[in-house]
Amino acid sequence: MRKILLMVAVAALAGFVMFAQDKGGKGGGGKAPKAPPKNLKIFTQDNWTTVGRPMMDVFVTSLGLADKGGCTYCHVGPGQFDDDSKPPKNVARMMLSMVNDINAKFPDGKTHVTCFTCHRGSTAPLTAPAN
Ligand code: HEC
Ligand code: HEC
Repeated sequence: MRKILLMVAVAALAGFVMFAQDKGGKGGGGKAPKAPPKNLKIFTQDNWTTVGRPMMDVFVTSLGLADKGGCTYCHVGPGQFDDDSKPPKNVARMMLSMVNDINAKFPDGKTHVTCFTCHRGSTAPLTAPAN
């Protein structure tokens, strides 16, 4: 199970990095979103459906939010996903750009570090051995 989650996280983040580098591109060509996002600072309108929205599910699994409100750990609630008033949403933006910076330093251009690399299903990653 953990391995599958990690693979999903890696695949989604790899896609994110690729699209982030291709800002002029048209994105995936999937179905048009019902209501286009209004407040993106990291993802773009072009990569939202293919990369940004799937990444939301990766957040929930990587940080272990299933029993912590899921989407509402970061969002006020349905219909208000553009609202930035919950602090974890802004932390997540900072974490996304940090992860992109780290991966950009690897010489092979691959995605090595994801949310899961540190978080491992927790909102508070261990920074030292447990004992
Ligand atoms: C760990 C925090 C976090 C979790 C959990 C999370 N999101 Fe997000 N979400 C964000 C961030 C950060 C953005 C803004 C991304 C950007 O600036 O490009 C965002 C943006 C969005 C947007 C676009 C809003 C707009 O109009 O700009 C939608 C829709 C959305 N999230 C849906 C969801 C759904 C559905 C879930 C649950 C499956 C979810 N999110 C879980 C952090 C989170
Ligand atoms: C290099 C390790 C590392 C990576 C990678 C990482 N994080 Fe974090 N994250 C941390 C640490 C450490 C903290 C706790 C910071 C603190 O104690 O203030 C944290 C805290 C957070 C919080 C605040 C949790 C709370 O207390 O409410 C959110 C939200 C978060 N990270 C989201 C993400 C997301 C989303 C990703 C992937 C895009 C990510 N993180 C990737 C290390 C990481």
